[in-house]
This record gives sequence, structure tokens and C-alpha cells, in this order.
Amino acid sequence: MKPTILLGTAQIPNDGGELRLTQRDDVFNIQLVGVHGELMSSRMSSSEVALSELGCAHLQGVENAKVLVGGLGMGFTLAAALKATSSSSQVVVAELVPEVVEWNKGALGECAGRPLDDQRTEVYLGDVAELFMSRQATFDAILLDVDNGPEAFTHDDNSELYSMASLQAIREMLHPNGVLAVWSAWHDPRFTKRLKKAGFSTSFKTVRAHKGKGSKHTIYLAKKS
Ligand SMILES: C[S@@+](CC[C@H](N)C(=O)[O-])C[C@H]1O[C@@H](n2cnc3c(N)ncnc32)[C@H](O)[C@@H]1O
Repeated sequence: MKPTILLGTAQIPNDGGELRLTQRDDVFNIQLVGVHGELMSSRMSSSEVALSELGCAHLQGVENAKVLVGGLGMGFTLAAALKATSSSSQVVVAELVPEVVEWNKGALGECAGRPLDDQRTEVYLGDVAELFMSRQATFDAILLDVDNGPEAFTHDDNSELYSMASLQAIREMLHPNGVLAVWSAWHDPRFTKRLKKAGFSTSFKTVRAHKGKGSKHTIYLAKKS
């Protein structure tokens, strides 16, 4: 069996813990130290891709669409957002941890086909929540996968992101008919209720982690009507 190689470590801002990037054979893993299981594996990307496919379905053939992806990770959601939108689109990806961006510029970037090299990609280095402060309609789709989902947090600061105040701010950041899509490891009807209260019309889809197999994940879809 091939050994696991440690490729890099990174501190999450605000004492959020340590991320570790490892590689075994051609599989990459990102782990949060002290938390059971991996945060991400390059073996499983179907639900990360589905987040973009579902969240950008309304943007097919739309010129100059603007999309925000919250959390770069291994770049699968970003790559799928670029694929799902036209050549005149712009996709901003917000990433909290600078090393994650650097890892994607290196060997890890191959996993999703190097979406950072696409000229439509713009990187915002920092907390995605900072982008919601202007409350100006800017995006046609906002795709969030910064954690395990609204119900479980690996990074404490992210609980605020899914609060009522934040959801209302996110709604204001969307153009009319814009869509907020949120990846989650579980389904929680309470989050759907909160989205409705924040003024969205909502639905959700259950998707599998890997090519129709593996864990079931939830994609919440919230439309600004
Ligand atoms: C589960 S991964 C995202 C996986 C991604 N969907 C993909 O396709 O590979 C979560 C990412 O969000 C980043 N992150 C966590 N909290 C964040 C925040 N508040 N703002 C921006 N990025 C954040 C993490 O550093 C990590 O890179």
C-alpha cells in the first residue's frame, strides 16, 4: 500500500483549527485536525458538482451572469459553476484560508481541472460573509459550501452565516430570480423554514456523494422571488 504523504498544513483564521492536505496515490484529502473523518476527499465530488448544477440551472444561456462560490476546497464547485455558465460569466470564489488557494495552484488543482486558471474566475481571499455587507444586488447565484452545512459547523464563525440576519443580507445580494444554493451533509427542515422566513421560495434535493453512491447530502435551493 502506498504511504500517505503530508503536503501541507494551514491555520484557519480566528483559532479555527488546523487543516491538513495529504495525498495517497492519486487521492487528495483535506482534514480538520481533531475532527473525525475528512473535510474533503478528491474521490468524492458529485454533490459538490451538483451544488453548481442545481444552483446555476437558471443561468443556462444567460450572458454576463455573476456567480459567487463560498469555499474553494478542492475546486469542484467552482469548476462546475464555470461549466454551467456562459463564456461571458464571472465567478467569484471566496476562500478563508490562503493556503487552500495556494494548494489549488499546485498539484491539488488538477483534481477539478485547474478552475483557478480560468479567466472568468476571481478569487476573494477572506470570509465570504464580508461580501454580504454591501447588501447590493450583485449576483445571479450564490453557492455556499463552507462547512458541513447549516446544522453542523467545523468552524464556529460559520454559524452566523446561516442566521436569519445573514440570510436576509444574502437575499439582498441576489438579483431578482437569483438563487442561493447551500450544500449540507444533512437535511434539516428547520433550515428550510428559516429560508422561507428570510423571504425565499425554497426546495431541496438529495444527492449522493459519489456517482449515485455513498452518503446522501442535501442541496437547499432558495429563490429570490
Ligand atoms: C468543504 S470545503 C468546500 C468544497 C468545495 N465545494 C469543492 O468543490 O471542493 C469548505 C471550504 O470553505 C472554506 N471556508 C470555510 N469557512 C469559510 C468562510 N467563512 N468563507 C470562505 N471560505 C470558507 C474552507 O477553508 C474550505 O476550503
